[in-house]
Amino acid sequence: MVKVLLDSPATGVVVTGGASGIGLATARALAAVGRPVALWDINAEGAQAAAAEIASTFGVAAVGQAVDLRDPQGISPAVAPARAAIGPIGGIVHCAGTAAITGLEGITPENWDAGMALHARAVVLLTQAFMDDLKANPGSAVVALASINATFGNGMIPIYTAAKGAVLSLVRSMADELAPHGVRINTVSPGIIDTPILGEARDGMEAAYGRRVLLGRFGQADEVARVVRFLLSDEASYVTGAEILVDGGILHSQRP
Ligand SMILES: NC(=O)c1ccc[n+]([C@@H]2O[C@H](COP(=O)([O-])OP(=O)(O)OC[C@H]3O[C@@H](n4cnc5c(N)ncnc54)[C@H](O)[C@@H]3O)[C@@H](O)[C@H]2O)c1
Repeated sequence: MVKVLLDSPATGVVVTGGASGIGLATARALAAVGRPVALWDINAEGAQAAAAEIASTFGVAAVGQAVDLRDPQGISPAVAPARAAIGPIGGIVHCAGTAAITGLEGITPENWDAGMALHARAVVLLTQAFMDDLKANPGSAVVALASINATFGNGMIPIYTAAKGAVLSLVRSMADELAPHGVRINTVSPGIIDTPILGEARDGMEAAYGRRVLLGRFGQADEVARVVRFLLSDEASYVTGAEILVDGGILHSQRP
């Protein structure tokens, strides 16, 4: 008989990049099942407006906070206010990201460090900052957004692809250390998802890659969000150290 898990954690979740795209959709998906959310974003106004909308739509605690995830000093001041606003924290979702178009020639020590800090180092600093909370709350879990580009490679955005590759490897290592504490950690690698990160490249991408997506279309942010929500729930109680593709089949597509 299939066991229906009705006791998934109702703890709060910190969602970085919560002002837009996949982060915003994830915060809404979590709030829809009663989980309080703290939206951390460099776009303070956007995060606060989104949190207000989520609180009024879903009737859960929600807060928007200004945090620059590239800044190693930026995380700890936001921790206590997040706890105060949304209660016990049992989840982290790291969605904040940018894809700097540099090619090889455009890489500098500064933009390299910034990209690695934002995508990869932040997973470490966020988990360290909430380690006591995660250990204390049964069913706690972390999800870091990686990308199909970590596997494909992409000459336009080498800092981004390297950082996402680091995320995949880092999460496997962290899964080992976190497991004895009852904390799971996984990556979600989206394919081409229709969010502002695609920018002006979007239309060209549709022409170049659209046919290769087995499901025949770009994805929507809420289709990624529902998978993230699953990974944060007890429905995913035996899933850790995994990379889950949410890409409409493009990574394994052999279509020309
Ligand atoms: N959309 C896609 O096709 C796609 C594909 C693969 C991976 N991803 C990944 O998914 C995640 C979410 O992307 P999205 O599509 O929702 O993009 P998005 O541009 O809609 O949202 C990204 C959010 O991150 C915030 N942000 C950027 N830099 C930040 C910083 N230094 N500190 C704090 N916040 C910062 C932005 O303000 C924005 O709200 C990213 O990690 C991205 O790399 C997206």
